[in-house]
Amino acid sequence: SDTVSLRGKKVLVTAAGTREPIDPVRYIGNRSSGKMGYALAEEAARRGASVVLVSGPSVLKASDGIRLIKIETAMQMREAVKKEFIDSDITIKAAAVADYRASSIAENKIKKDSSTLTLILEKNPDILFELGQIKQKNQILVGFAAETQNLLEFAKIKLHKKNLDYIIANDVTAPNAGFNTDTNIVKIIDRNGVCEDFPLLRKDLLAKIILDKITTLPKI
Ligand code: PMT
Repeated sequence: SDTVSLRGKKVLVTAAGTREPIDPVRYIGNRSSGKMGYALAEEAARRGASVVLVSGPSVLKASDGIRLIKIETAMQMREAVKKEFIDSDITIKAAAVADYRASSIAENKIKKDSSTLTLILEKNPDILFELGQIKQKNQILVGFAAETQNLLEFAKIKLHKKNLDYIIANDVTAPNAGFNTDTNIVKIIDRNGVCEDFPLLRKDLLAKIILDKITTLPKI
């Protein structure tokens, strides 16, 4: 086949959702299974890259050749990702990072003493935005945008704000697409606003398509 080898390249992938603790037994989470991110990591490894996968909790296993760093919270993901990003050639952020965390974590299990409970949340840092700020000219940075409305418009805003090479726009309201499915429906948008639309495809096939796209960039 005409797939471009990634031998000698470091590929950093993030996958799955973060968990933000509330008390010793509870957390705020989301429905990301890790399937999209793990598929990307596996495909990059098949193409010969040295792959680092920073993952939130997931039942999935990574192949032996992949260096798996397991984290739980957005702050832990940020620390691991920023360290691994420095010498990474290609970084793909498929993880669903919690935008907010509990501003304080209860030391003991919260009791159901009152009829309502108010949680105060604090904004998490936007890891992808931070990477976009320190990105060097030779580094490729790819993000996802999970949207439930104004897909193209919101995805394009994220692409530019976060200084990405590509954004994968993911309409997570479509059946069999988005969170916790084996398939997905995406659009791949480049910095010139050129948008390619894909039909419902298995996530492992989409991973190939996304890596094919990335390897057309002149930086590779
Ligand atoms: O894991 P699966 O079950 O296979 O599901 C796949 C998926 C739906 C999770 C995946 O395809 C996807 O869309 N991932 C991005 C989910 C998301 O949180 O998107 P977002 O639009 O909120 O964030 C935009 C980008 O910024 C993402 O690349 C995200 O990783 C990054 N981000 C967001 C917030 C934050 N604090 N830090 C970040 O780095």
